[in-house]
Amino acid sequence: MLTDPVDADLFEAAPNLRAVSTYAVGIDNIDLEAASNRGIQVGHTPDVLTETSADLALALMLAVMRRIPAGDASVRAGDWLTWEPAKLLGHDLHRATVGIVGLGRIGQAVKRRVEGFGAHTIHSGRTDGVALEQLLSEADVVTLHCPLTERTRGMIDADALRLMGRGSYLVNTARGPIVDTDALTQALDEGWIAGAALDVSDPEPLPAEHPLMRAPNLVIAPHLGSASHATRAEMADIAVDNLLAGLSGARMPRCANPDAYERPLGHS
Ligand code: DGY
Repeated sequence: MLTDPVDADLFEAAPNLRAVSTYAVGIDNIDLEAASNRGIQVGHTPDVLTETSADLALALMLAVMRRIPAGDASVRAGDWLTWEPAKLLGHDLHRATVGIVGLGRIGQAVKRRVEGFGAHTIHSGRTDGVALEQLLSEADVVTLHCPLTERTRGMIDADALRLMGRGSYLVNTARGPIVDTDALTQALDEGWIAGAALDVSDPEPLPAEHPLMRAPNLVIAPHLGSASHATRAEMADIAVDNLLAGLSGARMPRCANPDAYERPLGHS
């Protein structure tokens, strides 16, 4: 699972390990180099979850911008007394500039969706798009779709959040540690940004008593990006196919470290 570190210590402790198959597209929990050095293929599940993950990013974006959880809570609390002209006003996605950080498979699927809603998009990537600072200062919605790497860990820190405007939103459906949790808590508490929607957190799971849970205008989901019946079934098929191929010494259909296939198993 994406919650299990598969690192050099694990490889050291499991000399007979022949294949790694993760039930996720993200491989930040796996030391690919250590796996390749031992000739161990690492399988993952790209593509099948792209559209489902993009749907969830959109759902969270709209939920926080249009204050749906706050509205739901207000109805349940008996606060819906009449129609009010200024009750729970939010911001329009169709008027927004959406800044996409990481225009990979999921980033592109999010771009198609928000452009369908009439939003303008900009993007920032490792080798393309605008500089991250420009994106943060121009976008009304910053949505993260980059992998967690040493470069992106803590990338959305206090300085980044201060660059975003008071009316802007942060959406993180990528990996929790890309965002500095303490800085985000302060940004929401002090109104540096208008709101945040998270499907991932650091730590993950986020304990119920964590200060971020009390921050205003936070929408949070328990890492549901790929959680549709059909997509999880497709991910399971690929994860099993990867595992069977790895165990039989064949090339995995979706391998994150194809160079491992060329090396004899167990050699570093
Ligand atoms: C992934 O696959 O990396 C997601 O985070 C979970 O589906």
